[in-house]
Amino acid sequence: MCGIFGYIGTKTNAPEMIFKGLQTLEYRGYDSWGIAILNSNQKLQRQRQTGKIDKKQLKLSGGTIGIGHTRWATHGGVFEKNAHPHLDCNEEIAVLHNGIIENYQELKEELLKKGHHFTSDTDTEVVPHLLEEYVKHSPIKNAVKKTFQRLRGLSALVILYQRTKEIFVVKNGSPIVIGKGQDEYFIASDAVGILPYTNTLLFLNDHELAILGENSLVLEHIDTDKHIKEYFETVSWQQSHVTKGNYKHFMLKEIAEQPQVIRTIAKTQKELIEKQAPRIEHAFGTFFIGSGTASYACLAGTYLFSKIAHIHVNMAPASEFMYLEDFLTPDSLIIPLSQSGETIDIVEPLTRAKKKGSKILAIVNTLGSTIYRLADQTILLQAGPEKAVASTKAYTAKIAVLTYLAYAIAKDSQTGQKKLLESAQEIQRLLKPNTTKTLRSIAKKIARHEHVYLIGRGMSYATALEGALKIKEVSYIHAEGLAGGEIKHGPIALIDKGTPCIVIAPQDETHAAILSNAMELKSRGGYIIGISPKNSPIFDEWIQVKDTGIPLITQVIPLQLLGYFLSLQRGVADPDKPRNLAKSVTVK
Ligand code: F6R
Repeated sequence: MCGIFGYIGTKTNAPEMIFKGLQTLEYRGYDSWGIAILNSNQKLQRQRQTGKIDKKQLKLSGGTIGIGHTRWATHGGVFEKNAHPHLDCNEEIAVLHNGIIENYQELKEELLKKGHHFTSDTDTEVVPHLLEEYVKHSPIKNAVKKTFQRLRGLSALVILYQRTKEIFVVKNGSPIVIGKGQDEYFIASDAVGILPYTNTLLFLNDHELAILGENSLVLEHIDTDKHIKEYFETVSWQQSHVTKGNYKHFMLKEIAEQPQVIRTIAKTQKELIEKQAPRIEHAFGTFFIGSGTASYACLAGTYLFSKIAHIHVNMAPASEFMYLEDFLTPDSLIIPLSQSGETIDIVEPLTRAKKKGSKILAIVNTLGSTIYRLADQTILLQAGPEKAVASTKAYTAKIAVLTYLAYAIAKDSQTGQKKLLESAQEIQRLLKPNTTKTLRSIAKKIARHEHVYLIGRGMSYATALEGALKIKEVSYIHAEGLAGGEIKHGPIALIDKGTPCIVIAPQDETHAAILSNAMELKSRGGYIIGISPKNSPIFDEWIQVKDTGIPLITQVIPLQLLGYFLSLQRGVADPDKPRNLAKSVTVK
């Protein structure tokens, strides 16, 4: 879940470039950071600090080779001593690591017996010491291979070796991208970090070792020692997608980008979607899997497919799917939904399903990501890089693609396209001051409450879950999404005078029943905030969301905005980087 950035080339401001790269990647982990460079005397020099990178000053300067890391703590608390890079006893080898070394205790004991001195509580620190051991008897390249082969678990390693002035990169699970510039190479855990410099990228495969020297790159297979030909590709993503522009936060910018994202899907994906639809029709068992927000998109998908395409699909939170995999066959189709394409809870069951011969049709946002590469077929969300930790535009993009697919299966993608375009227009309206003013005032009224409940029925149940997640992760208010019909089976006991209750009441088959549930909440003192095309006397507050035929896409917008305004209202330091979270969840 951590961010990695490295540079080797001819430019002499490596520390500044690495620092900038880490700022771009900070959304991956943001509790501490560190950089190691080879200084003008060709000696390793390191700076490490806790806290967010943008508040700290870079002390290192000069140098043409260096590596840096932003951390999301797994092993060891948030202390400077645990920040990467970690060094060997002689301070000649600097190591960055993403992932978890499952057998680090055992390796550490072995190294301690040999007299190595450890300075951190991390699993990572065994790597520089193991390397130090192996390099006594073999060339560094072989030492890297031997070290990597001793590690259990999924890891990506970036190693800077002072003596040969080289950077070694190897991975198993965690993603690594190498960018090629003019007489220079960049290394990052995410293409977004490299895009400001080059669009020529190589997405390193598992068990491949990249050896980067000044203006040279050698690729070898770690187990067979076989040379691998470079396989750079050119991606079309633009750097402009990753700046905040005139917005105060990425979250707000990404919410505002949604009309454009939906229009792009509607206008450019029709052919691809129509091509993929028969795979779903002919599969013997289709399973949507995703995590967090993406799992709610999966749930929404089951309703959309039932309603529009009249076919049954299964869904599971990805972290649970491997416990349901026994019945998979080569005729099964898994449809993972993921923004990052790196979520380990998805990658793991996919890898297992692949071994059973099941097919994978991925719906992902990130070109070249692990899930993108694992899939047999892919539909790219085309939402552009999403940087705020709380997912917004990737969620609506997933719903848009699922809606389109459902219509394509029903042989009516024309209607799907029309409804998506209408939804984009309605989102545009919802972003205007009329609605945002009301939402800001609601946020002000409810910001000091400890609990918020959201209810929906049918497809809107998925919105209730997603809306609750948005509110809890960025404002830290306890928010719970419920199926409207379920409240009387227990949760209604929690409703007290003034408890904020958000009721999602589109003009569909759920309308009358959800209003009855709203009335049940109101009778117990609930303060009712209605999200609906039509006002109702039951509502204390009303956000009008006009009917576009796909309420799922539009009704979530006010909830994303409400989460954001609640976050500001409660003085959360940075809504883009909520506490304890990271954007790419690459550990189990
Ligand atoms: C919540 C959020 C997370 C992600 C989840 C899956 O706002 O962003 O719940 O949806 O971690 O991430 P991806 O889509 O990258 O697989």
